[in-house]
Amino acid sequence: MPSHLKRVESDGDWAAYHSIRKRILWEDRGLGGYDERHPDDRLADNHPLLLMHDGAPVGTARLDVVDQRLGIVRLVAIEAGLQRRGLGRILMRQVESYARGLGLVWLEVNAAKNAEGFYQRLGWETVHSDRKNPLMTKALNAGDSPS
Ligand SMILES: CC(C)(COP(=O)(O)OP(=O)(O)OC[C@H]1O[C@@H](n2cnc3c(N)ncnc32)[C@H](O)[C@@H]1OP(=O)(O)O)[C@@H](O)C(=O)NCCC(=O)NCCS
Repeated sequence: MPSHLKRVESDGDWAAYHSIRKRILWEDRGLGGYDERHPDDRLADNHPLLLMHDGAPVGTARLDVVDQRLGIVRLVAIEAGLQRRGLGRILMRQVESYARGLGLVWLEVNAAKNAEGFYQRLGWETVHSDRKNPLMTKALNAGDSPS
């Protein structure tokens, strides 16, 4: 299988995870101050995840477990040269599957404004669109979503 999701564990995984996030979510947006040692990445209920494709790291997400039912997806990013080729869809499908495996039934994301359409294509619904980062949700039904 060319693509799979892995929990960030090794030093190499952490390096790839930070490299993708720093470039795509900070530097490409003109932001500084990315913190590779931010404690939220190491909390027990937060799951740092890496999408591997053809053996290489190509995307990131973090799934933060809020309670037995709810998870929040954060810091979703696909490598710049690989966007709009279906990898974001694969990443989110696998994050949803991972979340189901934890027993979660509901996901939220504070979407980047220009990524709202991406989540909508994947079946997410906007709850509050009047925010800088619109709050979106998705119910996790039993079995894998076809989308
Ligand atoms: C947003 C992001 C994760 C999407 O990943 P991707 O690999 O480019 O998306 P895909 O190619 O899998 O696209 C899946 C679907 O969403 C659509 N889509 C992708 N990005 C979109 C966007 N920004 N706006 C509207 N639709 C979008 C695609 O057209 C595709 O639709 P289709 O399959 O019906 O034709 C990626 O573009 C990215 O990392 N962007 C920069 C960082 C960012 O904004 N992250 C989100 C933080 S909340």
